[in-house]
Amino acid sequence: MVFFPPAKLNLGLHILGKRPDGFHDLESVFLPLRWTDILEVTLDENVSAGEARFEWTGLDIPGSATDNLVTRAHRLLADKHALPGLSIHLHKILPMGAGLGGGSADGTYTLRAINEVCKLGLSPQELAHDAAQLGSDCPFFLQDGAALVQGRGEHIAPIDLNKVLDGCHVVVANPGIHIGTAEAFALVTPQARTADWHGLADVPLSQWRMHLRNDFEAGVRAQHIAVDELLTRMAEAGADHVQMTGTGSTVFGLFTDSTSANRAAALCKASGQGIVWQGLY
Ligand code: C5P
Repeated sequence: MVFFPPAKLNLGLHILGKRPDGFHDLESVFLPLRWTDILEVTLDENVSAGEARFEWTGLDIPGSATDNLVTRAHRLLADKHALPGLSIHLHKILPMGAGLGGGSADGTYTLRAINEVCKLGLSPQELAHDAAQLGSDCPFFLQDGAALVQGRGEHIAPIDLNKVLDGCHVVVANPGIHIGTAEAFALVTPQARTADWHGLADVPLSQWRMHLRNDFEAGVRAQHIAVDELLTRMAEAGADHVQMTGTGSTVFGLFTDSTSANRAAALCKASGQGIVWQGLY
């Protein structure tokens, strides 16, 4: 069975405060993109029960090939349920350490895939519990649309921004700079303020910047000239909304017209570094 774990963008990323458990409370709208990895999970008689043969193609996965969010998701379920032998193939397309949530999507889709392929019949609550154990961004990928995400990442409520985002052009540019999530959170200064997230649906895209901020952006921008340049290029090309996603280093532009989006993609590609993706929301 083949699955397509998507990238996400953060619309705003407000860090509200540090919690007693060491994590941070945040608020952000997560938007799933049509830009995805490819994950195949199949029953494999040549693999022992409870084990999985994991292979990947595409982009290099830094660190150990035997310890990543896909293998951790499999282990989490194999420790609790009697699983048959499985083969798992990940074709890695989404840049990592990029703020796009690709690793989290892969992990959560592995839970979803094993649940389906092995007919485990896990409830949404069980899946949510397991996804939260895998990582803070993971629970979002259990559902399929835009969502307001709160808490550490475990409180997820669908949000309808289609009035503004329908037909919107998206350009995403990753400069190839890897940012560690824990390090980024350790440096951020929380500010107790929220946004009127649901009110965004009534605000034109070009004014979203007045309501949304990514609390990691200024620090990363100051430290990495490539991020600063990509943000500037998106704005110069005529983006209605420009922002960094997650802890970076990926930046994105939202455009109401395709000519500006094409110009932004060309300008970002001309910078000669990293990966650029362009598509419709
Ligand atoms: O949950 P995840 O493994 O993605 O988190 C990596 C690290 O990022 C955590 O160990 C924590 O230091 C930081 N983090 C945080 N608050 C969040 C999410 C992540 O402080 N809401």
